[in-house]
Amino acid sequence: IKRLTKGLELTDQRILITAGGTQEPIDPVRFIGNHSSGKMGYTVAKEAARRGAEVTLVTAPTALQTPVGVESIQVQTAQQMYERVMELQAEQDIIIKAAAVADYRPQKIAENKIKKDDSDLVIKLERNPDILAELGNRKEEKLLVGFAAESEDLIANAEEKLERKNLDLILANDITADDAGFGTDTNRGIIISRTDREELPTLPKEEVASRLLDRITNLLERRGE
Ligand code: CTP
Ligand code: CA
Repeated sequence: IKRLTKGLELTDQRILITAGGTQEPIDPVRFIGNHSSGKMGYTVAKEAARRGAEVTLVTAPTALQTPVGVESIQVQTAQQMYERVMELQAEQDIIIKAAAVADYRPQKIAENKIKKDDSDLVIKLERNPDILAELGNRKEEKLLVGFAAESEDLIANAEEKLERKNLDLILANDITADDAGFGTDTNRGIIISRTDREELPTLPKEEVASRLLDRITNLLERRGE
């Protein structure tokens, strides 16, 4: 029975999901990256599509396959992700930002492969746009969901981001735990909304995605009342 009621409750919802870790080029062969595998975002995309949503995935490079029924748009840098998300945002009902977006990029990309010499190398970095904060600034009816990977003060940092970026939900992970965060098949953390907190024990990422989408469905239902 549970299975039957957990069916297509996201039908007619347009959901944009970002995933993966952006890559910021230094020269033609090197980039600054991060440890995101993309698993969490891809798993949310797969489960949202299974629940009937129209899912667009804007993804930085990963080793993962696009889930069935999901439209995938490939990007490399934070700036490219920003541009694609801004083009697509107006037509979305829900945006879930699972991507690990580089906060900084090399100010100049060397045209040729950088050669080493005996001195130290200094690469000057400049700020990337904050995609989620920008979405929060212009949000109207849309539901906005962020992620926060923290190595200290998990709840305080996540709540500060929920507030600052004008989000409806944030999923916070403690990346110092070895069963949560980057490259693992499980996740552990807490889902924080404006009104409450749901602690998640260590769970497979499929189950975390499922709980997150349950919370989103609850918020949509509450709005509809
Ligand atoms: N995010 C984003 N654009 C950025 C940086 C982050 O959209 N340039 C999004 C992430 O996708 C995530 C959320 O913001 O959903 C939180 O990311 P996080 O790195 O934890 O927060 P920051 O605001 O970048 O703060 P800091 O890294 O300084 O902790
Ligand atoms: Ca950041």
